[in-house]
Amino acid sequence: MKALTYHGTKDVRVDNVPDPTIQEPDDLLLRITATAICGSDLHLYHGKVPETLPGDILGHEFMGIVEDVGPEVRHIAPGDRVVIPFVIACGQCYFCVKNLFSACETTNEGRGAIMNKKGIPPAAALFGFSHLYGGVPGGQAEFVRVPKANVGPLKIPHGLEDERVLFLSDILPTGYQAVLNAGVGPGSTLAIFGAGPVGLMSAACARMLGAETIFMVDRFDYRLEFAKEAYGVIPINYEIGDDAAERIVEQTGGRGVDATIDAVGFEAHGSATETVLSTLKLEGSSGKAIRQCIAAVRRGGTISVPGIYTGFIHGFLFGDIFEKGLTIKAGQTHVQRFLPELLNFIQEGRLHPDIIISHRMALDEAAQAYHMFDQKHDACRKVVLTP
Ligand SMILES: NC(=O)c1ccc[n+]([C@@H]2O[C@H](COP(=O)([O-])OP(=O)(O)OC[C@H]3O[C@@H](n4cnc5c(N)ncnc54)[C@H](O)[C@@H]3O)[C@@H](O)[C@H]2O)c1
Ligand SMILES: [Zn+2]
Ligand SMILES: [Zn+2]
Repeated sequence: MKALTYHGTKDVRVDNVPDPTIQEPDDLLLRITATAICGSDLHLYHGKVPETLPGDILGHEFMGIVEDVGPEVRHIAPGDRVVIPFVIACGQCYFCVKNLFSACETTNEGRGAIMNKKGIPPAAALFGFSHLYGGVPGGQAEFVRVPKANVGPLKIPHGLEDERVLFLSDILPTGYQAVLNAGVGPGSTLAIFGAGPVGLMSAACARMLGAETIFMVDRFDYRLEFAKEAYGVIPINYEIGDDAAERIVEQTGGRGVDATIDAVGFEAHGSATETVLSTLKLEGSSGKAIRQCIAAVRRGGTISVPGIYTGFIHGFLFGDIFEKGLTIKAGQTHVQRFLPELLNFIQEGRLHPDIIISHRMALDEAAQAYHMFDQKHDACRKVVLTP
């Protein structure tokens, strides 16, 4: 089959690779009909995720038609149309029974990314996300093996086209978890840093839950303009005018917003010093976005962090967090937990995640698609690939 494989920094290619097969009794084999490129894939593409090896198949946002199932798969049969969560969870361990699926203790044979790990098990395996997260082949491919098929896959009712439901695999539940973690409700004020797909899904969910004011910060006007049109955000281009957090504080009565969402993560575009420090590996992450989140939130407020971080950050103002009495919630999304309600919201017409798609391309063109999404060429917001 054809699959998008990693060859090195900014070098991904569509190669011919062996077809996957059922390996465990609760596996299913999926013929992929739609797959997307995520901002998380860009961290791999930039060579920033250790233990990503040449030949690894990338991709963790995908859906398709079930080709075959192992003998222990219940409720799903060949021919069913399903969306697959990017998190692989067993459904039975200490964390899964608490609905903390991305903390699943049993699926990841890799090390995970915690630095000061002591003896704890790694977090859940993820599709196509380095050997730290299990080395599980991803879904930017014609076919994929899906482990734990009794826990993840969501059957899609007839009449809902792929594009309307594809983002249930990752970015829609990620945006939803981000706003729930931020405590967003009717009348809330919110600032979202990052107007990429995760920031946009956060804005969509925040609107649905009744947020009153949503600031959105980025440097790409085409993304900010889209968010203004689609979700009524107040756009702030951080490269123009004063500091973005300062402008947010000024526009909220000198206090700051109830909550901030960091939908940027560790590759935040920041100061020159920070770029040098992370290149020299003296720090793991750029702290630009999280520092802005701390500065723009009001006392007693919440910072929600769906953006990925790794290792340490210099100039992390923990004293400001203490002084302002802030709550921080972060982490990979517990995708499985949110799927039934999000599918309902889509069916009821309350969420339209597909409107963010800007490019539809063939899997064969995946390398060009990565380049375009990475460089923000051609006003790229989100790419869907079809095998
Ligand atoms: N928690 C999860 O489970 C989960 C799931 C999906 C994605 N993610 C992460 O969410 C983040 C965003 O993903 P995406 O798909 O939207 O990616 P993206 O790269 O398309 O978007 C990131 C946006 O942040 C903007 N940005 C960069 N530096 C900034 C700064 N200093 N201030 C404000 N904006 C800045 C960029 O211009 C870009 O528009 C990534 O880190 C990704 O890995 C996490
Ligand atoms: Zn993702
Ligand atoms: Zn588990």
